[in-house]
Amino acid sequence: RFIAVTNIPPPPPSRRLITLAVQNSALAIVMHYSRVSTPPERAYSAGTAVLMNEILKGGISLVFAFVNAGAGAPVIGSSASSLLGSTPMLGSASSPMLGSSSEKGVMGGVVRRVRKLAREVFSPDCWKLSIPAILYVIQNNLQYVAASNLDAATFQVSYQMKILTTAGFSVLLLKKKLLSTQWIALLFLAIGVGVVQIQSGCNSNSSSPGGHEGAGGGDHTTLHATKGFLAVAAACFTSGLAGVYFEMVLKNTPGDLWVRNVQLSLFSLVPCVAPILLSSARNPNPNLNAGVGVGAGLFAHFGVWAWATVAIQVFGGLVTAMVIKYSDNILKGFATSLSIVMSFMASVYLFEMRISFPFVLGSAIVLNATWLYNQQPRRIGLGGLGMGGG
Ligand code: C5P
Repeated sequence: RFIAVTNIPPPPPSRRLITLAVQNSALAIVMHYSRVSTPPERAYSAGTAVLMNEILKGGISLVFAFVNAGAGAPVIGSSASSLLGSTPMLGSASSPMLGSSSEKGVMGGVVRRVRKLAREVFSPDCWKLSIPAILYVIQNNLQYVAASNLDAATFQVSYQMKILTTAGFSVLLLKKKLLSTQWIALLFLAIGVGVVQIQSGCNSNSSSPGGHEGAGGGDHTTLHATKGFLAVAAACFTSGLAGVYFEMVLKNTPGDLWVRNVQLSLFSLVPCVAPILLSSARNPNPNLNAGVGVGAGLFAHFGVWAWATVAIQVFGGLVTAMVIKYSDNILKGFATSLSIVMSFMASVYLFEMRISFPFVLGSAIVLNATWLYNQQPRRIGLGGLGMGGG
């Protein structure tokens, strides 16, 4: 069985794979830098960043959905898919192929599209997106806690545990069956992350966790490795559950991907805004309010690195959605494991991260486990690593 499995060649590298890998590592690095490069009293609000992410992603998805609502799949499908290397299949089957020639006047066409879009966005099954939406908001907030307390490379390696949770939820919710080699791979994944964690944990509550991070990179913040790992563990849980749930909704119900994204963003607004308003009411956080009212306080210290983090996350969300919909899922795992190497090399260069033996050993185990997990025959339809976006 093992021989048969390893004979299956891995999927060829694609633009989508590279795009996601670069996005993953860029996010880990830029998010980490954006959090540790200023003293805590001048930190920007992670809640605002998550809210901006959802508003921008929802807005972009709305534009795509609007175009698809009138012009049919190929308009957005061809451009977005060519960028990301996927097949141009966007647009729901129900999308009427309204060409401009068939529309009576520009306004009539716009109104028809808006009506159609509104019907799709507020369809009776839209509430299904509320669960992944809430989970993703929690996850995106937890990512900031993790990136604030772990160096970029350790964060990336630990975050691989989401493969484990994704597999678990896929077995539980989607009734997927895993090969014995995949269970072994998952065990090694846990061991690898454990090795990285032990050596970082030994040096927790220091500004140089795991002996990784030197004075370079302009760090001003004390890192708390235990807090960071707990945040990663929780983020892995939500990543797995949200990803699998989103996959279930996407693949079991008809509907345009961009409409689903709009629904996801809409349901995210409540959990995004609620903590901001609550915290603003209590006013415990000078970073958030800065004594200048909610509006201005929201963007206190929200500088170029905060916006860069948001932009990378918005882009990542859109790519992830496409990967969940169109990928054979295996690609996402490869992208994520590639990003470990990228973040590692970038951390050495940018943050003067010192290479320690446990870190290299743990990372090597994680990478090998990732590779082993993906050695599977596609014909029996097993989901790959990162299935469902986890
Ligand atoms: O780490 P993981 O792959 O689970 O992260 C998925 C990310 O993609 C989350 O930040 C989530 O908000 C985003 N996402 C999205 N739209 C989707 C699915 C995921 O923005 N349809």
